[in-house]
Amino acid sequence: MDQIINDIDIISPEEAACETVKISKESNNPTARKMYIESYGCQMNFSDSEIVTSILKKDGFDTTSSYEDADLILLNTCSIREKAEQTVRHRLGQFQTVKKRKPEVLIGVLGCMAERLKSKLLEEEKIVDLVVGPDAYRDLPLLVGQAEEGEKGVNTFLSREETYADISPVRLNSNGVTAFISIMRGCDNMCSFCVVPFTRGRERSRDPYSIVAEATQLFSDGYREVTLLGQNVDSYKWSHLENNKARLEKEGIEDVVNFAHLLEMVARVHSDLRIRFSTSHPKDITDEVLHTMKKYDNICKYIHLPVQSGSSAVLDRMNRTYDREWYINRVDAIRRILGEDCGISSDMIAGFCNETEEEHQDTLSLMDYVTYDFAYMFYYSERPGTLAAKKYVDDIPLEVKKRRLQEIIDKQRLHALERNQRELNKVHTVLIEGASKKSELHLQGRNSANKVIVFPKEHFKKGQYVDVLVKECTGGTLLGEAVK
Ligand code: SAH
Ligand code: SF4
Ligand code: F3S
Repeated sequence: MDQIINDIDIISPEEAACETVKISKESNNPTARKMYIESYGCQMNFSDSEIVTSILKKDGFDTTSSYEDADLILLNTCSIREKAEQTVRHRLGQFQTVKKRKPEVLIGVLGCMAERLKSKLLEEEKIVDLVVGPDAYRDLPLLVGQAEEGEKGVNTFLSREETYADISPVRLNSNGVTAFISIMRGCDNMCSFCVVPFTRGRERSRDPYSIVAEATQLFSDGYREVTLLGQNVDSYKWSHLENNKARLEKEGIEDVVNFAHLLEMVARVHSDLRIRFSTSHPKDITDEVLHTMKKYDNICKYIHLPVQSGSSAVLDRMNRTYDREWYINRVDAIRRILGEDCGISSDMIAGFCNETEEEHQDTLSLMDYVTYDFAYMFYYSERPGTLAAKKYVDDIPLEVKKRRLQEIIDKQRLHALERNQRELNKVHTVLIEGASKKSELHLQGRNSANKVIVFPKEHFKKGQYVDVLVKECTGGTLLGEAVK
């Protein structure tokens, strides 16, 4: 078993905290114009890239996994931290050689960086032909056509209505088992450190029937897990149009579909379709949502509940609109209603403006209270235009930010291991997602609480549910054997 532990994928919190890149897959039509898309940032962006691909496929493009072969290179970008933007600028630099060799290739910047910088990006990065914000993707065929005629294309208009509800995403990077469904866009919170409200615009929820239809289609295509995505899923809210009233009344919903109702509607698609969701904002997660999670076995018992800081004073400066006590109350409710086994994860920011050593200790002590299964951990990166940039000084020296972050990471490592050790000698139902990345002889999947479990392949197949007895663990992975 020791050998296996060394061979399989161990997901450390630090790795997870890095911005990830996903690349479009190979096409099968040799004559079509080819697009290549790379995504940075959050799951919403990966989900948006699937919408972009769908829109451009309708316009005659096919995907390629090699940017060298592409007629159109798209980067779907993130602005959340300065490093995320630097990564994209570095990548654009690498594309200069392609453009030199093949001047007709078009390069487009999509997503949050496009929205934040708008046409300034065209001035700063000469090789860019297209700048398209997250609500303007329907305009891509037009803008690409314009760029093909030699005119640069920019659309960074933010909409109050756009949800792309009618667009069937082309599933990129898919394992054929798990898929994302965007249920809302934008964010109406104004966390003082955060650029998202500026890059994604006002919050709007998508028609629940289009969400259920997408989940139903995915299930019939063989998918067995969907993750409902939004910056703040617990504030999902959809008021019925008159013509849907009768349908909603039949479901016992009188006026407004809230997140608990939506969860229930999706859970009813099929008992073999697992439901996950992200992200829950501590101010909005209700006991009603927790009770709905308890009621359906196929709603996974895992909640991503970012705390950001354990200090009420820092939370106030962050404008998170809850304090330490409120957060602890929500964690207690999760434990009371869903039990100790429910996975809880978090995001944490070290070294926010004016953070004292004592306030940092409050974050560490809150971590001791919760013992998170997993966390994404960052040090504060000031973003231009945000409330914090206007109101506070980014005054914590980099080495202090880094030291505090390391203390948070070290503690989280211990807690992740502690939480995983609780699972030893227990049987978990795993949805198989595919081969373990480091051992052909093993498969991997996740349990309800989102823990990665690796076990010998035997005769099992991707997409099946299997009960696994956990025998060993690391902080990132559980290892076991299937039981009949
Ligand atoms: N909507 C989610 C967060 C999305 S951004 C929520 O409210 O929880 C993902 C994470 O990036 C945040 O939770 C935060 O921890 C981190 N983050 C956002 N802005 C940041 C900044 N300026 N510096 C460092 N980390 C930041
Ligand atoms: Fe940013 Fe706050 Fe909105 Fe999350 S809830 S996206 S942290 S403003
Ligand atoms: Fe980044 Fe935009 Fe997501 S800033 S985290 S890609 S919403």
